[in-house]
Amino acid sequence: MQTESINVDTIVDNWNADNSFLIEILQDVQEQYHYIPKDVAEKLSEDLDVPLSYIFHIATFYKGFSLEPRGKHPICVCTGTACHVKGGARILDNVMRDLGVSKEGQATRDMLFSVESVRCLGCCGLAPVVTVGDEVYARSSSLKVKKIINKIRRKEQS
Ligand code: FES
Repeated sequence: MQTESINVDTIVDNWNADNSFLIEILQDVQEQYHYIPKDVAEKLSEDLDVPLSYIFHIATFYKGFSLEPRGKHPICVCTGTACHVKGGARILDNVMRDLGVSKEGQATRDMLFSVESVRCLGCCGLAPVVTVGDEVYARSSSLKVKKIINKIRRKEQS
């Protein structure tokens, strides 16, 4: 599948096609497509004169990037020690079941959500912690996350 290149051109132009802003450019691509499509990575490699292997290295090194389509509202469930003790793994299982996804990182059919575990979000005192998009939810629970998902679904459908 060929991804529309007009948006990629705009993103590259916004950063003056300067490859020292590769991470920022990849962040914009991730935000636009919810992942880094292969054809976009190839185009960036050409436009920015950066080896494709380096783009893939960056895209796989940083957790914020994905080479697979993610949902519009990515959910991260912390399963670090403090959150694990307070039920993080159970929340992860329940959220995956509620969303009907069988593996971490897989987007829902409507492409609204994807869920994955993370190892410590750096706010262990608030365990168990879940993030949905940019929002951080402290002392979370499966029910709390389910309500957030339903709220976002209603908003997206209105
Ligand atoms: S272990 Fe979950 S925030 Fe640190």
